[in-house]
Amino acid sequence: MTINYIGPDAILQKKQEYLIPCVYHFYKKPMQIVRGEMQYLYDHKGKQYLDFYGGVSVMNAGHCNPEIIEKVCEQIRTLQHTTTIYLTQPIMDLAERLAHISPGKLKRSFFCASGSEANEGAALLAQLFTKKHKFVAVHEGLHGRTKLTMNLTGLPMWRTDPHPLGDIIHIPAAYCYRCAFGLSYPLCNLQCATCIEDVVKDSDFAAFIVEPIQGNGGIITPPLEYFKVICEILKKYQVLLITDEVQTGFGRTGEMFAIKHWGVIPDIMTVAKALSNGTPMGAFITNDEIALSYTRPGASTTGGNPVSATAALAAIDAIEKYQLVQRAKELGNYLKDKLLEMKQRYRLIGDVRGIGLMLGAELVKENKVPATEEIDYVLEELKEHGVLAGKTGVLRNVLTFQPPLVITRDDIDRVIEILNDIFLSIKMKWKTRAF
Ligand SMILES: Cc1ncc(COP(=O)(O)O)c(C=O)c1O
Repeated sequence: MTINYIGPDAILQKKQEYLIPCVYHFYKKPMQIVRGEMQYLYDHKGKQYLDFYGGVSVMNAGHCNPEIIEKVCEQIRTLQHTTTIYLTQPIMDLAERLAHISPGKLKRSFFCASGSEANEGAALLAQLFTKKHKFVAVHEGLHGRTKLTMNLTGLPMWRTDPHPLGDIIHIPAAYCYRCAFGLSYPLCNLQCATCIEDVVKDSDFAAFIVEPIQGNGGIITPPLEYFKVICEILKKYQVLLITDEVQTGFGRTGEMFAIKHWGVIPDIMTVAKALSNGTPMGAFITNDEIALSYTRPGASTTGGNPVSATAALAAIDAIEKYQLVQRAKELGNYLKDKLLEMKQRYRLIGDVRGIGLMLGAELVKENKVPATEEIDYVLEELKEHGVLAGKTGVLRNVLTFQPPLVITRDDIDRVIEILNDIFLSIKMKWKTRAF
């Protein structure tokens, strides 16, 4: 079948005319992506791209993974949608499966269509259970685009609300490279964690919402004691812990859910993105006790529909069958070591952080000045060489790697070789003051 692609220029023209301008894109000369195959994407001219961003941490089991697609196609041909007013099986199989793989006693799910909706629902559930109404969140956190989740979001870039909600307090992130308290780990005694006590001690807080690793915030990865300190304080004041695993879930960090690295169990966990490997879906998951506080009718029209639920079940099958959690751990360590080696060679890399295949390299000039022009140059050059990576961080200077977990060591070697050449050329440009 020959398809006549309209090409990136025509798409850009239509985008300018028909999309709300808030929808932005990467690259000065963006390509039209037309096809995906595991760790690869292809543009309309057939050029292959090694995808090291995974559609922002979504395609953990690979683009168009044939085993997932086959099951989804069969389901879509058989039964597409009913809503939860009728009984169907995939939603129940998925809920049961999630109960088995979720931390601790997290067992009951509510399905919706996105990460924002999952966080919105989790926040409501926390209010219902605690009968309290305020929330604590983190400065560099991102939790969604709805009114409440945009207000829970701490990243200024994603807070476009002209009438911000009250009753939400943000605490500084565990951003050791740029500590808000001007301290250094471990002498800091984790002030970024202990400071939550001053916020929650004499008021009406229902929950603390936090990403285990802040993805959009720039792969900010808290020290290992962080969540234990936080949990002790939350417990003392009966404030719930909501962990937003929308980016970190489903093997990304070398554990099925990232919070396991910190050895605590959240009261409510939210998931989306890789849950169904590219089919829109979100969920919040909690234990029996908290779940039983939500008894009035609640429904999401397409949440947990047979097609999305089948996609999620097939994605979890693939993650387990191909041991993608273990693979993320091993390949993540390999990539991180390579990035750390490069940090020794190039002062452009100020910090390397993250766990598993959720890694970031913060690019800086002298005195940690964000290397914003340089990161754009790196991203453009990577793209020219057939590699896609991400850009995150409150200062938009963190080169971000969240590839499908099906990548290989050879893929990593290739990316590192290309990065090396790009960083070398930046070194030369710095010498000649070209930047
Ligand atoms: C950590 C986190 N939570 C929530 C969301 C919102 O998810 P969605 O875009 O599916 O609404 C995002 C989106 O990037 C995210 O990264």
